[in-house]
Amino acid sequence: MKHILSLIAIGFCSVAYAQNNTAIIPEPVSLVQGKGRFVIDNHTTLIIPSGSPELTALGNRTNEWINTVTGITLPVKNKTTAPEHSIRLLLNPTLNNPGNDEGYELSITESEVKLQARKTAGIFYGLQTLRQLLSLSDEANKQPRSLPVVEIVDYPRLKWRGLMLDVSRHFFSKDFVKKYIDDMARYKFNVFHWHLTDDQGWRIEIKSLPRLTEVGAWRVPRTGGWWSYDPPQRNEKATYGGYYTQQDIKEVIAYATERHITIVPEIDVPGHSLAAIAAYPYLSATGYIYSVNPGSKFYNIDDNTLNPADERVYTFLDKVFTEVAALFPGEYIHIGGDEATKYFWQQSAVVQDFMKKQGIKTEHELQSYFIKRVEKILKKKKKKIIGWNEILEGGLAPEATVMSWQGMQGGIEAAKQGHQVIFTPSSNTYLDLYQGDPQLEPSTYDMLRLKTAYQWNPIPAGIDSTLVLGGQGNLWSEAVPTGRHAEYMTWPRSLALSEVFWSPRAKQNWANFQKKLEPQFKVLDAAHINYATAAFDVLATSKLDEQKQLVASLSTDIDGLEIYYTLDNTNPDTSSARYGSTPIVIPKGIYQLRAQSFRGNAPAGKLLIVPLEELEKRAR
Ligand code: ACM
Repeated sequence: MKHILSLIAIGFCSVAYAQNNTAIIPEPVSLVQGKGRFVIDNHTTLIIPSGSPELTALGNRTNEWINTVTGITLPVKNKTTAPEHSIRLLLNPTLNNPGNDEGYELSITESEVKLQARKTAGIFYGLQTLRQLLSLSDEANKQPRSLPVVEIVDYPRLKWRGLMLDVSRHFFSKDFVKKYIDDMARYKFNVFHWHLTDDQGWRIEIKSLPRLTEVGAWRVPRTGGWWSYDPPQRNEKATYGGYYTQQDIKEVIAYATERHITIVPEIDVPGHSLAAIAAYPYLSATGYIYSVNPGSKFYNIDDNTLNPADERVYTFLDKVFTEVAALFPGEYIHIGGDEATKYFWQQSAVVQDFMKKQGIKTEHELQSYFIKRVEKILKKKKKKIIGWNEILEGGLAPEATVMSWQGMQGGIEAAKQGHQVIFTPSSNTYLDLYQGDPQLEPSTYDMLRLKTAYQWNPIPAGIDSTLVLGGQGNLWSEAVPTGRHAEYMTWPRSLALSEVFWSPRAKQNWANFQKKLEPQFKVLDAAHINYATAAFDVLATSKLDEQKQLVASLSTDIDGLEIYYTLDNTNPDTSSARYGSTPIVIPKGIYQLRAQSFRGNAPAGKLLIVPLEELEKRAR
């Protein structure tokens, strides 16, 4: 009986889904689809009440989006006297469903599209939904220029819905950064964490400290494997790099603000500071003259740590943060705090002497002393600090917000101490990790599959959930040399994260999400956004079973695909051996395992080839 009921339930769900061609990501809080469509034609008007320049600007952008998809530019009116075929934007401060400043209500009938919200942020998000509906309907219904009849009430689960881009390890142009922000906005992200400084490049103009960009923004050019590049050679010119002028940054901030995205700049101290130290060698306790690191091995070899015992370091930081705070309007500045090696502090007589005089017993406490002083500098500039979870070591600065990346634990601990947290555990949110089998993907480290990003809860049990500001995906760029590849690593895992951050937990559903993925790929294509299809590819794992035989297991992230494989160096097709659920016993002496996923007779993913030695390595 239970089985029959659940079958009926499943059947009903898929019928409901088939009728619901919306495939919106992130999934709205409430969506009721009716019959019929609103067709955009030459009689359609766009109604934008006067009085809000922001709303007018949004209305004009809406017209551009509509034109991109339909080729039609709608006449704009301020009000309407008679019923007409229109798309109407409405700011309604008393709207109480949703009574949320980022929420919106979108009502589409055959004769009218009405989008209302309390604030322009809500209108903006409603427009992103509208924009998706238009692109999706084009694909799904072969009815260009039309929108499904639908009632949507929607608002976000989390206040902080972030993505981070590391522009230090590789430099990304101002225009690329803008595009990245535009892409984020489509999926209702609202924080862009800009990792502006690190050992491999200082990327923000600081007018009072010109060497930061004259020297710190440039390194010798290298390609190959990060961490194994040759160090700079004598007299070799540092020609790779770049930086953003303050004018560039103002432009990017204005661009992000129009898209309801707050930019949080990160100046990573006291570790990860080799580029700054290359520019101003007095900043480290060692005082050596270094070049900006090009991606060669240097950890605990070159001193990339600021000297917390030297007042000149705090004067330097005051200058940096004066200019950073004046540029960025947001309330937070990220001060890094991660992975600061204690090695050079331990070696330095000056630092050790300072610790004795101050009664500081451990290097962790010294780091805490440093972060607290940075917090004081920023507090004077009316900014709050965020630091990576290492700032817990030695004691948190009084008002710091913690960004938890080494799992959830740091964030949980910070929340227990009453601090705000943003969860960004590497296991679920690091966008620089492999998204599929390493044999098929560009070289990196560790693995984050699409499903793992999707099935993650950024609000852990046992803490005061009001302290959880939200979550974030992080793209470190050691192995990301181009903008196209940055997009490839970001999408579709950030589609998953957008739903994790925006949609109510009860609306998150991996089966539904998978069905929305391919329609969304078309939306990404239309928006010229690069993305990975690794979720459809086969991933091989291996181990030694109880009889010490080498066995391989094959899987895809996407459900419902069939996997075929060979062990004889031929390419598999649907007449090859089909992988069931039992691991394959790998015969001795084979050359390689080949596998591919199929849907019906058509390949669904790429051909995977794993040599025997690689299977043996994975079993270790
Ligand atoms: C980090 O990944 N070092 C924050």
